[in-house]
Amino acid sequence: METPSPTLLICNLLLFFSQISHSTDTITQEQPLADDGSTLVSKDGTFELGFFNPGSSNNRYVGIWYKNIAVKTVVWVANRDNPIKDNNSTSMLKTQQGNLVLLAHNGTLLWTTNATAKASNPIVQLLDDGNLVIRDAKEESVFVWQSFDHPSDTLLSGMKLGWDLRTGLNRRLTSWKNWDDPSSGNFVWEVVLGSNPDIVIWKGNVEYFRTGPYNGNMFSGVYGPRNNPLYDYVFVNNKDEVYFRYTLRNSSVVSIIVMNQTLSLRQRLTWIPETKAWTVYQSLPRDSCDEYNVCGPNGYCEIDASPICQCFEGFVPKSPQLWNAMDWRQGCVRSDDWSCGVENKDGFRRIEKMKLPNSTYAWVNQSMTLLECRVKCLENCSCTAYSNLDTRGTGSGCSIWLGDLIDLRVIESGQDFYVRVATSDTDDKHGNHKKVVVVAVTIVASLVLMMFLVYCIYMTKNKGKTEARMLKEKKDQHGQEDLELPFFDFATIVKATNNFSIDNKLGEGGFGPVYKGILADEQEIAIKRLSRSSGQGLKEFRNEVILCAKLQHRNLAKVIGYCIEGEEKMLLYEYMPNRSLDLIIFDSIQRKILDWPMRLNILNAIARGLLYLHQDSRLRIIHRDLKASNILLDNNMNPKISDFGLAKMCGSDQVEGSTSIIAGTQ
Ligand SMILES: *[C@@H]1O[C@H](CO)[C@@H](O)[C@H](O)[C@H]1NC(C)=O
Ligand SMILES: *[C@@H]1O[C@H](CO)[C@@H](O)[C@H](O)[C@H]1NC(C)=O
Ligand SMILES: *[C@@H]1O[C@H](CO)[C@@H](O)[C@H](O)[C@H]1NC(C)=O
Ligand SMILES: *[C@@H]1O[C@H](CO)[C@@H](O)[C@H](O)[C@H]1NC(C)=O
Ligand SMILES: *[C@@H]1O[C@H](CO)[C@@H](O)[C@H](O)[C@H]1NC(C)=O
Ligand SMILES: *[C@@H]1O[C@H](CO)[C@@H](O)[C@H](O)[C@H]1NC(C)=O
Ligand SMILES: *[C@@H]1O[C@H](CO)[C@@H](O)[C@H](O)[C@H]1NC(C)=O
Ligand SMILES: *[C@@H]1O[C@H](CO)[C@@H](O)[C@H](O)[C@H]1NC(C)=O
Ligand SMILES: *[C@@H]1O[C@H](CO)[C@@H](O)[C@H](O)[C@H]1NC(C)=O
Repeated sequence: METPSPTLLICNLLLFFSQISHSTDTITQEQPLADDGSTLVSKDGTFELGFFNPGSSNNRYVGIWYKNIAVKTVVWVANRDNPIKDNNSTSMLKTQQGNLVLLAHNGTLLWTTNATAKASNPIVQLLDDGNLVIRDAKEESVFVWQSFDHPSDTLLSGMKLGWDLRTGLNRRLTSWKNWDDPSSGNFVWEVVLGSNPDIVIWKGNVEYFRTGPYNGNMFSGVYGPRNNPLYDYVFVNNKDEVYFRYTLRNSSVVSIIVMNQTLSLRQRLTWIPETKAWTVYQSLPRDSCDEYNVCGPNGYCEIDASPICQCFEGFVPKSPQLWNAMDWRQGCVRSDDWSCGVENKDGFRRIEKMKLPNSTYAWVNQSMTLLECRVKCLENCSCTAYSNLDTRGTGSGCSIWLGDLIDLRVIESGQDFYVRVATSDTDDKHGNHKKVVVVAVTIVASLVLMMFLVYCIYMTKNKGKTEARMLKEKKDQHGQEDLELPFFDFATIVKATNNFSIDNKLGEGGFGPVYKGILADEQEIAIKRLSRSSGQGLKEFRNEVILCAKLQHRNLAKVIGYCIEGEEKMLLYEYMPNRSLDLIIFDSIQRKILDWPMRLNILNAIARGLLYLHQDSRLRIIHRDLKASNILLDNNMNPKISDFGLAKMCGSDQVEGSTSIIAGTQ
């Protein structure tokens, strides 16, 4: 017999000490976890899994909590509905046939992961984000089962709340019964599917609060700004998955969302190390207006109004008696003589900052414009309201509601909402009289246009005192060319942009803001307004007016006209619903809508536009500021080159040249 070599002895000793002095983060077939004070600790030491007694209870549970937080905060419980009651003997957490099981001393099965998939060599690991996973020893990132798919009452950073539509898994939060009983309470937070998904808090069977549908920026009923310092969030809604998820911006900050049944609140709590306490960052519901359907059908809640519940214009309380006694649940009914499809008795009233009503059975279309949406609503006599689906940019998509409008409130995060009422508002003449209106508008518009033309000719021929004349003089240096662009007067622009309302602002260009406008004939336009202070832009403005009058191509942004009055100088473009290319290709979500055929099409079209500029146009033009933000996209994603402020004209025979000015911007 040989004595063991000293090195082997030391190795064994080291192994022995490492096993008792370091906690592990895994349970393997050889190494179960017993209720003898041992725990699993995640690699970075944030989370700990073990056996515990909640509050003053004698029941024992397996749970996960923050290791380094003075107040024991359990974020997940395994056997919440089946506690270990026998406190005299040790129970055991071990793997069994690919599952993690909790066994009582006498071998009774108390809890199992009950996973359908099986790993051949399963190990159970507590990850740094608080997720307990079962995986194959060789597969680092494929999980057979994970605790994140079976949440308790806490949503951690990175967890999904919502549905995996492929497997039918619904991840929802369920509160504890009370502070010392983790069994499933009746205060539940979950994603509710429907034509426009929503996130709902239930109190038993009663709907308690609704966040409102997601509008591309936030939930229409919850002001949750993206640019907050604490966390970022997404709401994903596609054919495979519908879920909400937040991620903390700084992983060393501890912040969670908890369902608290005692308070009937969903709270976001943040741990403050200095005070060694949790602080409440946000609570939902916030006020009486958040209570589901507090004002009844067709009523809306306004927290600063008295009483808080109001009926829309054209509606009255269904039961005035109850309403005056502050019982609003009966809601409101139509009072005006609204009549489907009848002129002057069928239109819409716009209401700002509305949390959208229950949209489970609304009709939606992602690609319709607001105008198409309005027409869609007018076509169906059961339609009661419409709005945009997505409020990003100038808004897109269509949602129409059929029947009663449920659970509305006025709130900062809300959006424009159009309720169908009897109205003689001239802007609202549509419906069955659309054709008549279109004809009338066309006649009026052509009259107005002719008047503009006459005015333009007058202005240019009759070398008056306006800046239009200056423009022409400037141009005379470049050969005798007449100003061919229609002139619009300032009052028209003011009316079209609602007096340059901030709501109409599309963005800020190099030389001033850009607004959206709607002309009297419903034509949508974009207006580039030269800022008064920017003297430098004047030259570029003239350049652009002159060039644009001459250029006409499918892939060049069409200029509709210009306006000069006093200090004001404006260019009118056709409106591009999809705005500029940079907003899509540099946005990680938006860029996914651009498939390769579409990208190729865009590239080809830009090239065609350039070829026209360089060779085929009368002027031979070098753009000198070609970049993604100067490529606009129309409804069908056809690109149009815009912004000729820095463009340079070459002689029609000039093929070489040098320039002394450096042009273009980043
Ligand atoms: C095991 O113990 C539990 C109590 O901890 C008891 O309810 C159960 O009947 C026991 N099972 C057996 C097989 O003894
Ligand atoms: C065990 O449970 C009994 C009642 O179930 C309780 O009286 C006793 O204090 C508990 N013992 C320990 C050590 O928790
Ligand atoms: C636990 O053990 C104590 C004595 O050690 C005994 O008095 C008590 O009844 C036991 N409790 C249970 C629940 O078995
Ligand atoms: C495991 O899941 C199956 C169906 O998926 C169910 O019938 C069974 O009762 C579950 N077993 C346990 C112990 O939860
Ligand atoms: C609910 O909130 C109250 C007050 O903050 C707290 O005492 C209690 O422990 C919370 N309940 C749960 C289950 O966390
Ligand atoms: C909308 O109302 C329907 C019918 O009352 C209800 O079943 C559904 O849960 C509600 N949806 C939301 C998101 O509130
Ligand atoms: C993250 O938070 C910790 C603790 O609050 C702080 O020390 C650290 O500077 C933060 N890191 C960043 C990148 O903000
Ligand atoms: C949505 O609207 C677009 C544009 O009006 C239309 O082409 C499309 O067919 C509509 N989709 C559905 C499902 O109605
Ligand atoms: C209105 O729309 C609903 C839902 O799409 C449909 O069931 C109903 O038939 C429509 N009514 C009319 C008059 O088109």
